[in-house]
Parts: sequence; structure tokens; C-alpha cells
Amino acid sequence: MDRHYIEFATPESAAVRSDPAPTPAREEVLIGVHHAGINRADLLQRLGLYPPPEDASPIPGLEVAGEVVALGEGCQHLQVGDRVCALTHGGGYASLAIAREDHCLTLPETLTSEEGAALPEALLTVWYNVFERGQLARGETVLIHGGSSGIGSIGVQMAKTMGATTLSTAGSLERCETVRALGAEFVADHREGDLAAQFTQAGYAGKINVILDIAGGDLMQSNLDLAAPDGRIVCIGVMRGMQSEINLATLFMKRLTLTGSTLRRLEMTERARCFDAIRQHVWPQVVAGDIRPVVDTAYPLAAVLEAHEHMRLGAHFGKLVLDCSVQ
Ligand SMILES: NC(=O)c1ccc[n+]([C@@H]2O[C@H](COP(=O)([O-])OP(=O)(O)OC[C@H]3O[C@@H](n4cnc5c(N)ncnc54)[C@H](OP(=O)(O)O)[C@@H]3O)[C@@H](O)[C@H]2O)c1
Repeated sequence: MDRHYIEFATPESAAVRSDPAPTPAREEVLIGVHHAGINRADLLQRLGLYPPPEDASPIPGLEVAGEVVALGEGCQHLQVGDRVCALTHGGGYASLAIAREDHCLTLPETLTSEEGAALPEALLTVWYNVFERGQLARGETVLIHGGSSGIGSIGVQMAKTMGATTLSTAGSLERCETVRALGAEFVADHREGDLAAQFTQAGYAGKINVILDIAGGDLMQSNLDLAAPDGRIVCIGVMRGMQSEINLATLFMKRLTLTGSTLRRLEMTERARCFDAIRQHVWPQVVAGDIRPVVDTAYPLAAVLEAHEHMRLGAHFGKLVLDCSVQ
């Protein structure tokens, strides 16, 4: 069985190549990929700025949705023909991709594969960072920066359905309104005026228990200022800069915790543990339609450079995905 896949020979070129499909190893499945999610990490990988881990597939693509077409030894839960979405260790921009069985979620009838491909990276990232590292509890207040992003649009819905007062940010009045419609109580415009001042005016300064920061840089001091005593700030992205100048006194005066993580470097067993927690605590809400992926555009696989440019320009809302079933 052959597969087609994307190769970035240079940052400006994307070729559709073909080779024999990989064979699933023990506890792995081979997925016939219908759609693959696009992540900012893929753009960085294409530019040579984010090399994949040594044991990962060199083919880009961290999440897929499709149908199981072959099972490795030791698989216990999935059958050939099952519709799934999955986190991949690279290799998602392809017609066939490998995933660990315990990194798959069974797709309900109510979700298309476009929607399924928008879920694994966002669910895992939000679960691990907001609920595990950030320890968000029911009744607390959370600020999910970038509610208009692939990660944030799911994060806002997850936090809301888990019983938190949910705040967010986005980059225009219209985008703020759309994030509010996803369940955020207040959304500040990060392109309009002082961000911390907007939350202060709305009455949330010093009352935010958990903050998911996707942008870093100068945002960090605002995070520290807005956090409640014993607040937890989790940084997962640096779109505003890798360096931050912060007032350390804010940390110890409020006993804040500042942490972060990157999913790509999280151990496979840790990811599997998070998937178990997601199956238990989040997936029922996805199946019920209370958490819905937001897909902006699906591009044909061969138009991957156009799709990446769409993401780079930042005009999308939610996720961009690739249709991998056609070359
Ligand atoms: N550490 C991890 O494990 C992990 C995993 C996944 C993603 N991430 C990171 O999380 C971030 C979001 O990823 P994504 O795939 O969801 O991206 P995305 O869909 O492209 O969204 C980007 C988001 O960033 C906002 N934004 C852009 N420039 C900003 C600025 N200067 N200040 C504040 N917000 C700004 C955008 O808001 P508007 O468009 O409304 O202006 C939008 O909400 C990226 O930095 C990504 O690298 C980290």
C-alpha cells in the first residue's frame, strides 16, 4: 500500500511525494487520513526553526482524523474501519499516518473528519496546561489568551463547560464578539489599547486564578498583574517574544506560579495519560456537541503552502486543516 505525503525540501517548496506506507508497530494503528490539522509548529518546522524530535517522523503534521486501516500487535480498543482523530508523532500531512492506539479518540457520527482533525492538539494542549499544570478548578476564573486561535477556541469552550468563569483575548471587536459567543464572559481586544487596563476596567484585575498565555513577551507582566493571589500562569507560546521583563516582586507578593510546556516534548506515556483523562472528563461534552471545533478553512493537501500563508497572516478564526484524501 502506497501513501502520498508532503515534503518541504526548502521552506518555499512543498512537493507531494509517494512511498510505501509504514507498518504499525506494537500498540500502533495505521490511519487512512482524511484531514490533518495545521499547527503553528508546522510553519516553524517548514522554516527549519523547529526541528522534529529525533524519534519523530520527518513528515510534518501533528494531528489527523480518518479511518483505521491496519492494527499493530497488542491493540485492544480499536478495529479496522473505526473513525478516529489522533495525535501523531509527525507524519500527519499524508494519506496514511501512524498513531499510537492510546493517542486516538473515536469520532462520533456528529463530527466530520474536518472537525475531528481540529481537536487532538488543542484538547491535549488545553487539558495538560490549563487543567493539569494550571490546576483550574470549577468556580475559578481563567483567562485563555487568543480565544480566536485553534487552541483558544477549544480552550474557551472547555473551561466554560468545566464550570470556570472564562475570559479571553482576540484581535478585533468582531473577533472578540465571536469568542464571546463560544462562552467567554469578557474578551479584551489585544490590538486596541492597554490589555491589562481592559480587564481592570471590567473588574477582573487580581481575580484571575489561571492564565493560559499563548503569546509571551510583554504580555507576561500583564499576566502577573492580573492574576489572583496563588494564581497559576502557564506559557505555551511566544508570538510576542521569547524574552519578558517582569517584576519578580509580583511573583512573590502574590505567591504566583509561572510554568509552561510544549506538547511535542511531552513523554508518550504522559500524553496517553492525558488522553485517558480527556476521554473521561472532556470527550462526553464533545460528543454532546457542547464543545465544537471551529474549522475556518480546509485546503487540499497540495495547497499546503497557501494554507500555511493563511495561518501566518493570522486572518483565520479557529483551525485550518488539510484534506489529505486528494493529492
Ligand atoms: N506549547 C505547546 O504545547 C503548544 C501547542 C500548540 C500551540 N502552541 C502555541 O499556541 C499558540 C496558538 O497556537 P494556534 O495553533 O492556536 O495558533 P493560531 O490559530 O494561529 O492563533 C494565533 C492566536 O494568537 C493571537 N495573537 C496573534 N498575535 C498576537 C499578539 N501579538 N498578542 C496576542 N495575541 C496574538 C491571535 O489573535 P487574533 O488573530 O484574534 O489577533 C490568535 O488567537 C501559538 O503560539 C502556538 O505555537 C503551543
